[in-house]
Amino acid sequence: MVLEIERVTVEFRPKKGPPLVALHEVNLTIRPGEFVVALGASGCGKTTLLNTVAGFLPPTSGQIRLAGKPVLGPGRERGVVFQQHALMPWLSVLGNVEFGLRLQGLARGERRRIALECLAKVGLSQAVEQPVYELSGGMQQRVGVARAMATSPAVMLLDEPLGALDAFTRESVQEILLDIWRDSSRMFFFITHDVEEALFLSTRLLIMAPQPGRIVHEFDVPFSRRFAQTRNARAVKAAPDFIEMRERILDLMRQTSSGDLS
Ligand SMILES: Nc1ncnc2c1ncn2[C@@H]1O[C@H](COP(=O)(O)OP(=O)(O)OP(=O)(O)O)[C@@H](O)[C@H]1O
Ligand SMILES: [Mg+2]
Repeated sequence: MVLEIERVTVEFRPKKGPPLVALHEVNLTIRPGEFVVALGASGCGKTTLLNTVAGFLPPTSGQIRLAGKPVLGPGRERGVVFQQHALMPWLSVLGNVEFGLRLQGLARGERRRIALECLAKVGLSQAVEQPVYELSGGMQQRVGVARAMATSPAVMLLDEPLGALDAFTRESVQEILLDIWRDSSRMFFFITHDVEEALFLSTRLLIMAPQPGRIVHEFDVPFSRRFAQTRNARAVKAAPDFIEMRERILDLMRQTSSGDLS
């Protein structure tokens, strides 16, 4: 199953003023096993791109195809973790993760089995009966990841899911995400503002720029595969080639935001 984004343009037309080109002719192909991360300044169209892939927002022109079929709306082969976690506060942890499975019409026992398995993967086996408002922000984000995983989507779409976490929790959830990625042939599309996080997680890194929103640089990145082999996040992030690439990307982003794209 391949995800193809072909010449996707999204324009918003405000009541007053000129139209805003949130994305201009974006091309991107994502294959199973890839972890693609988009980095870029606020307003460069990252969420807009994710929302068009999720099927929440139709492109103004261009097309998105999954396994050759045009994406015309949301679907269960795409799991979404939102920029705000968007859990249902009146349900328990387990209830939140079971929710999508219930919509699919799965029997109660099967729902429970899958939900408990996903919650174990994100380290929340002890919290399944708790209402979500009792959880810390980091735990709520992990519920969001478990919920998105539960329906076994081929594509995982994550919009800055770890932005609000402290450094240590953030690193442990990054490791959980890489474990999920490594154990499956899923594709990941992940948005972040954090250069180190982008380098650690991605197999491919995209840098986007605004006005109009577009992809201006693309890199192959080795570090998530290195982590999958060594399981030592600190060593991966402290390696000289990691630091060198981090500084290079930071430089590029500085140039991108100052408008110098040469
Ligand atoms: N529904 C909408 N109606 C009008 N304009 C919108 C809408 N959604 C997004 N925009 C505009 O499109 C541009 C891209 O927005 P988008 O949310 O995709 O940016 P982003 O890269 O995700 O930013 P951030 O890093 O702040 O989350 C922005 O200028 C935004 O104001
Ligand atoms: Mg956004």
